[in-house]
Amino acid sequence: MLIRKPADIRSSDITPKEVFLRRRELLQAGLMAGGLALGGPAMAAILPPGRRAKLVDVAAGKFSTDETVNSYTDITTYNNYYEFGTGKSDPFENAQEFEPMPWTVKVAGHCEKTGIFDLEDFIRPYALEERIYRLRCVEAWSMVIPWVGVPLADIVRQYRPLSNAKYVVFETLLDPERMPGQRSRALHWPYVEGLTIAEAVNPLSLLAVGVYGEVLPNQNGAPMRLVVPWKYGFKSIKGIVSMTFSETRPRTTWERAAPHEYGFYANVNPEVDHPRWSQARERRIGSSVGGLQGILGAAKQETLMFNGYGEHVAHLYEGLDLRRNF
Ligand code: MTE
Repeated sequence: MLIRKPADIRSSDITPKEVFLRRRELLQAGLMAGGLALGGPAMAAILPPGRRAKLVDVAAGKFSTDETVNSYTDITTYNNYYEFGTGKSDPFENAQEFEPMPWTVKVAGHCEKTGIFDLEDFIRPYALEERIYRLRCVEAWSMVIPWVGVPLADIVRQYRPLSNAKYVVFETLLDPERMPGQRSRALHWPYVEGLTIAEAVNPLSLLAVGVYGEVLPNQNGAPMRLVVPWKYGFKSIKGIVSMTFSETRPRTTWERAAPHEYGFYANVNPEVDHPRWSQARERRIGSSVGGLQGILGAAKQETLMFNGYGEHVAHLYEGLDLRRNF
């Protein structure tokens, strides 16, 4: 018979699973916030059902829109995250059991500081900010989302890219055991995305670890995802496990899946249609016309060039033919 010493007994063995997972999440929130001592079953019990641990010390960030924010339900039940299925409610339904922590991020390529870092060390030295951004999906729907995160520029600079680094490339976790969608060939796995260095250090680019002041839910890309609000949503890669500084432009997942439909730049542009539909207008999820529920009832509105963020990013594309470089 195997007799385990107290040191071998994991706290998950003696604590009900529900409480254990919630405690881990509270610890995650504390670590993100700079080591706040939270935890224990009593703390886990105070989390309202279906909600995540609160992030503390979140400052109001710049660039927030004052448009009406989408509800927590809209933001966390209508998602694209093919690693958990291709339907809009699949990520909410299939990602609940996913346990993101512990999590590491590999930093590689043309930079002075490379290595594998615990998420806490990757993100902790920086102050968390709330940024209320529009997210415009290539499928012509949009939402307004109160992200919590860290400016990507701060993180990029921390690893000191070399002069030959022209792009930053991100990859999502590859783990078909834990991500059921990866057992299908819906996309080429792992999901890959990239930005030019200039885009990555633009003050709008954010690495998000939370939403609505709380730890990021799995379906939104826990524990960490990119947010680039002037680009179509598919650039905002979820579940990031690596950041590589590259001299060459990466072949991104959607470009690889359909190169004539999805480009590397993917800047929101109402004047350049998708080959199969117009990009001039969008449906704002959560708004309603004529009492209809869901996306069909969502009010249509004009799509703005660069999703309305032109004053901060248009200079990045001066002289570039945006019709060819879609
Ligand atoms: N990241 C990964 N790894 N896998 C995905 O399928 N979908 C993208 C993007 N990031 C996706 C991803 C798309 S198409 C969109 S519109 C946004 O995530 C949606 O983000 P949200 O679900 O948080 O609104």
